[in-house]
Amino acid sequence: MWPDTRIQELFDIEFPIVQAPMAGANGSAMAIAVAEAGGLGSLPCALLTPDQLRAELGAIRAGTRRPVNVNFFCHRPPQPDVEREAAWRHELSRYYVELGLDPDAPVPASSRAPFDDEFCGLVEELRPEIVSFHFGLPERRLLNRVRATRARIVSSATTVREARWLEDAGCDAIIAQGAEAGGHRGMFLAEAVDRQVGTMALVPQVVDAVKVPVIAAGGIADGRGIAAALALGAAAVQVGTAYLFCPESTVADPHREALRSAHADDTVLTNVFTGRPARSIVNRTVREVGPLSPLAPAFPLAGGALAPLRSAAPSGSADFMSLWSGQGVALRRELTAADLTRVLAQEALARLSSLTSGAAR
Ligand SMILES: Cc1cc2nc3c(=O)[nH]c(=O)nc-3n(C[C@H](O)[C@H](O)[C@H](O)COP(=O)(O)O)c2cc1C
Repeated sequence: MWPDTRIQELFDIEFPIVQAPMAGANGSAMAIAVAEAGGLGSLPCALLTPDQLRAELGAIRAGTRRPVNVNFFCHRPPQPDVEREAAWRHELSRYYVELGLDPDAPVPASSRAPFDDEFCGLVEELRPEIVSFHFGLPERRLLNRVRATRARIVSSATTVREARWLEDAGCDAIIAQGAEAGGHRGMFLAEAVDRQVGTMALVPQVVDAVKVPVIAAGGIADGRGIAAALALGAAAVQVGTAYLFCPESTVADPHREALRSAHADDTVLTNVFTGRPARSIVNRTVREVGPLSPLAPAFPLAGGALAPLRSAAPSGSADFMSLWSGQGVALRRELTAADLTRVLAQEALARLSSLTSGAAR
């Protein structure tokens, strides 16, 4: 029924559907629901402390016996750059004044933590079946420890060159993340944001370049998108934005409201929220400071100076908040994560069978 079952076999799942790990937007509840419905549930850890990771993974193990994907960012922590930090604070100072804040007051450090010895120790102890990374891979010493747990190792590529690099480093599967995708670009060798490749062009070129199975991501939100990705040679899909509408999603209310009214052309790649390019719905910060600001400090430091603005903004304001979203946002449906997973699988199978029987309109 499915054209390529390599990912289902590799991950031991029923449908070739991965719920994208979405830091700040999903936790154990969504991962359990997706796993129980037959997809791969994912736990994003970039915004979790080690104790929170332990608690969330414990909740998943209590809620399902199915495999789980645990996801980490693996950026190198940046060197502090006092001048750039000051320029960024200056750029944002008008908003501090507007909201009655002291532009020179200390700001909190941005909390996105890279994969390190402590997280690696938890992987060794808690043994998630799949470990995925964003922004490349951790240093070899840590990667070898993850591999020794027998976890399947996965990471995102935004170019053919990145995909080959990940395969050479021993990834068991590669996510081809097209430019339509919501959230951070996984780019780690590529630097030019305006040269990022769309899903339709990226997936078949990555499929041709590597032997390991490819998971297509970016703009896929219904059965048509899944069937198209599989027709391009992907063995599975990773779906993010479509899951943000589920009751299990933990996005803040202003983010949910923005998602509910966004059109395909309301998103843009911007670095203003964290210092790294990511796809967000356009809001005041993106419009007035970005979308790509040369002043934004290196990832994840740019986020620190925005935190006081978010807290001081009127309740319900989305002005200073990252509104991660992919271009498929308007294909939204408000279903539970379990129902969405099942509907995506049914729609994809129906579309695939109508295409092969020649009955597709
Ligand atoms: C709200 C949000 C948060 C995300 N956070 C992460 C993350 O923590 N780790 C990660 O590997 N990818 C993250 N991504 C990217 C997804 O893994 C995936 O590439 C993307 O959602 C696919 O495109 P789509 O949103 O159009 O479905 C995030 C995406 C969104 C929308």
